[in-house]
Amino acid sequence: MADIDTVLIEKRRFKPPAIFSKKARIGSLAEYRKLYAKAEKNPDKFWAERAAELRWTKKWKKVLDWSGAPFAKWFTGGQLNASDCCLDRHVETWRKNKAAIVWEGEPGDARVLTYGDLHRETCKFANVLKGLGVKKGDRVTIYMPLVPELAIAMLACARIGAAHSVIFGGFTSQSIADRVEDAESRVLITADGGWRRGGIVPLKANVDDALTKTQRVEKVVVFRRTAHDVPMKQGRDFWWHELMQDASPDCPAEPLDSEHMLYILYTSGTTGKPKGVVHTTGGYMTWAHATTEWVFDLREEDTFWCTADIGWVTGHTYVVYGPLSNGATVVMYEGAPNFPGNDRFWSIVEKYRVSILYTAPTAIRAFMKWGDEWPAKHDLSSLRLLGTVGEPINPEAWMWYQRMIGGGRCPIVDTWWQTETGAILVTPLPGATPTKPGSATLPLPGIFPEILDSTGKPCKPDQGGLLTISRPWPSMLRTVYRDPERYKTQYWSRFPGKYFTGDGARFDRDGYLWIMGRVDDVIKVAGHRLGTAEVESSLVSHPKVAEAAVVGKPDELKGEAICAFVTLRSGQPKSDELRRELQEHVAKTMGSFAKPEQVRFTDSLPKTRSGKIMRRLLRKIATGDETLGDTTTLEDLSVLAKLREDEE
Ligand code: WT7
Repeated sequence: MADIDTVLIEKRRFKPPAIFSKKARIGSLAEYRKLYAKAEKNPDKFWAERAAELRWTKKWKKVLDWSGAPFAKWFTGGQLNASDCCLDRHVETWRKNKAAIVWEGEPGDARVLTYGDLHRETCKFANVLKGLGVKKGDRVTIYMPLVPELAIAMLACARIGAAHSVIFGGFTSQSIADRVEDAESRVLITADGGWRRGGIVPLKANVDDALTKTQRVEKVVVFRRTAHDVPMKQGRDFWWHELMQDASPDCPAEPLDSEHMLYILYTSGTTGKPKGVVHTTGGYMTWAHATTEWVFDLREEDTFWCTADIGWVTGHTYVVYGPLSNGATVVMYEGAPNFPGNDRFWSIVEKYRVSILYTAPTAIRAFMKWGDEWPAKHDLSSLRLLGTVGEPINPEAWMWYQRMIGGGRCPIVDTWWQTETGAILVTPLPGATPTKPGSATLPLPGIFPEILDSTGKPCKPDQGGLLTISRPWPSMLRTVYRDPERYKTQYWSRFPGKYFTGDGARFDRDGYLWIMGRVDDVIKVAGHRLGTAEVESSLVSHPKVAEAAVVGKPDELKGEAICAFVTLRSGQPKSDELRRELQEHVAKTMGSFAKPEQVRFTDSLPKTRSGKIMRRLLRKIATGDETLGDTTTLEDLSVLAKLREDEE
């Protein structure tokens, strides 16, 4: 891969506000550097100190066992339970009656669950799971709206040592079936529906449809949320509230080995089916806990709102495990940011006096577009810290966020990480790191990023290259579920001994990291990660489609939008109607967030001699780029001209 060009030069910088630094856990750049050096010199000691912040029923013998690299084992010999760390140890203190979850439904209904409530409900549901035959080591699939019961279901799984696999509620039948099948889940937890933009997301109907495509699931638990009529299949489907009625609130947390699997989270890769990213207990919890405390400088009295859906890793780590392990109060909101009005987020911030807000650039860009009058209507003075995650934030959106939402007084933490990294790796520390709009700034202590050129040589400052992490860290993924080979080739074969992130990046002269986007075929639509392969197989599953290739193209609002190139089966006429039909087909089989914005028909796809689709070329065609570069490896050059003629 050729070097990546830098076009973005950003000169503005913002020092942490003095009053923030004075109180912060890490209060200066010097302090950060000291900690960084300490972690570099004696990593075992550094990580052991972090792990000691959790509650272990048995202390570990060895911090890191890297003898089976790239398969890491952290805190071996130790035992703990994530549900115990998040609940029991708080319930044993004054926090028993502290709010754990402040929840608001889209229609405006609200609930507050204390740590005591959350503990009791989790214990009861853990007993329900046991009653359904769920055992330690099993995988339970969860497909729910953003309600407290989603967190309860996850913590209940963790409590008995079953791994959860949460599927984002925006996915539909085929995606659910594929994930259930890969995880071999016999139990699935869902709801009748969820509220979104005033309408019902038919979760139960999607499950029913998915279960016609896989025979794996034996029992379905259905939480009643929308209370519309849903068919219940005798012997397979059970109402949550009925099972909970007589469940015992007594369920001690199972002590689990540090490397016991906590969860699988499916994420899109470049090829084939989605990858089941595996996270285990001790290491994941250690870094989820520490990063929540450091990056958000979390205080007992904070009201922390991470707006991500729990179906993505951001929700796993910064709605559930990180904040709850720290005994924090989290806000959860079920619905859309623009329902009933464009100021829903700001009314929630005002109502609950949210102090830390963590959201995505794509949301910020939408707020910007909707206009300043919406946040201006609300008192946002409770906010003291802002965060972003999921994709690069353009400096203008950063500036708007800082001014309009943060009132110029809140530091912004632009946090870089991935499903695979489990928790934040690169970010400013709000009391220590001067920020530059658009840069994720510096690696956290214990994290060693390197940017390499295609030959593996480190890049010079301002030279773009491939982002790698050169030492293991505790919350790293352990493997791809049931596919260790894929884990090795995907992450560890590009540069032996180094974790390859799939991102392009550069360091500037101050050592600040600038992410330049994916270098593979992963598309980021509204911050959601989509693999080209899954969308393509959805398209190809339509009876009129012979072949399809999808690429991302820049989109002002969503970051990237999907453009699909489709070859129809012979004799099928091209029409706008079919175009719409294909868009709907993807929405139906995968979820509407994966719907291609553009469908372009073509008689054939440009391929290399070895038969690989030339996406680089398609990307350029999608963006209307005329300098198509080297096309000598194209199998059929006429295809290219055709594609460009084929305008909408
Ligand atoms: C990819 C990972 C991290 C949780 C949510 C996304 C991109 C993530 C940033 C950031 C620039 C970012 C990268 C990364 N990304 N955070 N602060 N600045 N890019 O997790 O779905 O696994 O996606 O998101 O490209 O590789 P994910």
